[in-house]
Amino acid sequence: MMKSVYIAFGVVVGAAMVAGGVAWAIIAWRGSGPGAPPPPPRGWWETADLYQIYPRSFKDSDGDGVGDLPGITSKLEHLVEAGAGAAWLSPVFQSPMVDAGYDVSDFYSIHEEYGKMEDFEQLVRRAHELGLKVLLDFVPNHASTESQYFKDSEDRVEGFEDFFVWADGLHDPENESNILPPSNWVSQFGGSAWQWSEKRGQFYLHQFSVQQADFNFRSPAVRDEMLQIMRFWLDKGADGFRIDGLPYLMEANPADHGGRYPDDPLCGRKEFGPNQLGYTVPLYTKDLIELYDIVYDWREFVDNYQRENGGDTRVILTEGYTNISMTMQYYGYGGRLGAHFPFNFGFITDLTRGFSAPDLVYCVLKWLTYMPRGAVANWVLGNHDNSRVASRLRPALVDGLNALTALLPGASVTYQGEELGMRDGRVSWRQTVDVEACSRGNEQTYQLYSRDPARTPFHWDGGPSAGFSSNASTWLPVASDHREINLERQKKEPRSHFKVFQALKALRKRPTLTHGDYIVEALSDKTLVVVRHLAPLDSFTLVFNVAGSSDTVHTDWIRSLKLPATVYVTSLSSKRNAGDVISPGPLELQAGEALVLQASSLVSYGHKLS
Ligand code: GLC
Ligand code: MG
Ligand code: CA
Repeated sequence: MMKSVYIAFGVVVGAAMVAGGVAWAIIAWRGSGPGAPPPPPRGWWETADLYQIYPRSFKDSDGDGVGDLPGITSKLEHLVEAGAGAAWLSPVFQSPMVDAGYDVSDFYSIHEEYGKMEDFEQLVRRAHELGLKVLLDFVPNHASTESQYFKDSEDRVEGFEDFFVWADGLHDPENESNILPPSNWVSQFGGSAWQWSEKRGQFYLHQFSVQQADFNFRSPAVRDEMLQIMRFWLDKGADGFRIDGLPYLMEANPADHGGRYPDDPLCGRKEFGPNQLGYTVPLYTKDLIELYDIVYDWREFVDNYQRENGGDTRVILTEGYTNISMTMQYYGYGGRLGAHFPFNFGFITDLTRGFSAPDLVYCVLKWLTYMPRGAVANWVLGNHDNSRVASRLRPALVDGLNALTALLPGASVTYQGEELGMRDGRVSWRQTVDVEACSRGNEQTYQLYSRDPARTPFHWDGGPSAGFSSNASTWLPVASDHREINLERQKKEPRSHFKVFQALKALRKRPTLTHGDYIVEALSDKTLVVVRHLAPLDSFTLVFNVAGSSDTVHTDWIRSLKLPATVYVTSLSSKRNAGDVISPGPLELQAGEALVLQASSLVSYGHKLS
């Protein structure tokens, strides 16, 4: 895992890996002496841009208003054009779609609205032809209550009795005929996390919706089944998994608590009722230390799979919203490897509208500071669970933030549509389908919880249904701003978010970006700078004013930048153009302006990338 730092002293040829690790771009490299080797190639996942496809909303091929696998396959070239190295598909498995596919009813088959197994095989084939890896969304914490596993468990079929977390209820001291849930645990979507099963005469646990029953990870049979599922999809050609909802994988063991599930402590804040998320502190229901060993077992499993079957690295990427130390343990601990990387949600959870340059620097350095030596960083701007960048922060920051994730070391993760600066769509209460909004909210409050606005269909063009579907009616409404914000238009315009994005993603494949030192600092309250440096190659520097008003900084303040420098790419908010020369002196930046500068190499005072 540890990589030695590469410093070039000689006349060498640097090889930059391009998407998929199949092709190699050879870059002539001027040096001062003979003999130095090119930088060691990094694994495909270490520097790739991972593009998240939300299958329901990417492309509908059969006109039913719902995206599908043939639709995705027909648009994979877009990922290549956007510079992606891999696609991550949100769940495509059979599901009653209570939680948009995160309620899987058959882990071994494709959801019928999305297509057939052959469509999946075709998708993988085409992706691999294009040099793209394919990652699937693996949802181990729970299964749909419509799954055979759950039905068998509810019926106490031999071998499945303990597949889920079942518990007897508690006697109600106030009402003899009433049975109370086993503990005060609250579901992520509100209400008790326990649901009564008449059939079984017990409660089952659901940390998410009532229709998503939590597997019992203390059962060896469950753990074994998870490996079978992973093996099945790896055999089908998947290159790895994004693994869902890990902090909730395990709950307290009744054996440690006198035979019952212990109550979570109360948070004590009066505004929360017992049925609301936040009422309790999830001591016994989240971040249990035991769950990490399961993740490490999965890493061992995919590593062994690769050894036995050959081919490139199969990766596991973990999803969990938790504090930095629990997050970092997903990378591995005590000599065991874990996730190739856990998703870094700092830009989502730690930045609020009006954030300053120091806020942003702090957010970046937090990850790089806590990350274990030799591990690979990653930068996530958005996903299907959160408001889009332009809506959550500001439209003017779209290019600068895309530049930031492109310039930082490690992998970047792009949610579909962020390359166009798409905004949240408007979805009325009547049109709302998100289970979180429907369970936690009502007609007045649903917008606080709804994830639907970030899930509206992709904007391929300005036509009806944005080129997403031939159907005027789509599963979620197409956002009306698709006439202004769409891929076709952005490809035609001389300057657009998409063109900026393309330039940035091409840039990040260069050795300076994949292997170079980094400096991340704030020049003022408003302006952030990221320098990337790998002597004797040119350095690349991002200068980004995150504020809503202009800022004047001085080029002297930027360590390791040799002037004059040339503007390589600019945000749309900039009046400068690629090729402009930046000379020593004051540098005025417009609100939201981001510049990537190319300069010749100078001694670097940056942090070495391991
Ligand atoms: C993850 C998914 C989210 C889903 C939840 C339960 O957080 O990203 O969409 O609702 O897990 O599976
Ligand atoms: Mg369809
Ligand atoms: Ca669980």
